[in-house]
Amino acid sequence: MKLLVPVLFIIIGISSFVTIGTTSKKDSEAIVWKDTLMADREKYLKAYKDSIRGKENVAADSVFKNIKVLKGKSAEQVLSIMNSWGHALGVTCKFCHDLNNFASEKPRHFNQTREMFDMTNRLNREILASLKTFRQPVVMGCISCHNEMKEPPHDGPKVQGNGARPRPGN
Ligand code: HEC
Ligand code: HEC
Repeated sequence: MKLLVPVLFIIIGISSFVTIGTTSKKDSEAIVWKDTLMADREKYLKAYKDSIRGKENVAADSVFKNIKVLKGKSAEQVLSIMNSWGHALGVTCKFCHDLNNFASEKPRHFNQTREMFDMTNRLNREILASLKTFRQPVVMGCISCHNEMKEPPHDGPKVQGNGARPRPGN
């Protein structure tokens, strides 16, 4: 009986350690893409994944029609980036794309995204990389500012009842 208590403690200790280890791994995998719009994005991703079968690792600009900022990525990487942009802004593919023509530059957010992509790269390569009192690399992604929002919160001029700044209609 005297031995049983410490033995029980050890068993409980080991088993809780094992469960903590496995759940946190699963959670961190789930956190990356899990949002309520994932199912909608997955619909389009699946169609594209099917259409590029066998060409997953081919350079994206020879598989797709209008690749500029993502030159150098594979077709599969481009699709994964699309999902991550959607996740970062809390949107579906429709926010940036004409769903009948994904290569179209007409949707306003399409070219805006290219500018944001270049801006983020410059931020990382030029500004954050030059911070001297931080342990490098210091990096930011779309999610750092957007945090699942179309527009990051700001303290800029507040206009009209809903607090939104005037801008061309979305
Ligand atoms: C935040 C805006 C944004 C979101 C959200 C987004 N895309 Fe894109 N997508 C772009 C931009 C910008 C490009 C062009 C990339 C470049 O210039 O290299 C692009 C390119 C593409 C292309 C290549 C089109 C071609 O023929 O050249 C495909 C396919 C694509 N996206 C699919 C998707 C799918 C599927 C989703 C949803 C899961 C999605 N995108 C979500 C902005 C977005
Ligand atoms: C340093 C912060 C920051 C980062 C990083 C960032 N953005 Fe933005 N983004 C903003 C701000 C601020 C705005 C609002 C600009 C405005 O209209 O005043 C914005 C606006 C946008 C818009 C237009 C949204 C709308 O409703 O009009 C898109 C699309 C966008 N960002 C995509 C991206 C993508 C994709 C990435 C990653 C490649 C990214 N952003 C990275 C700060 C950021």
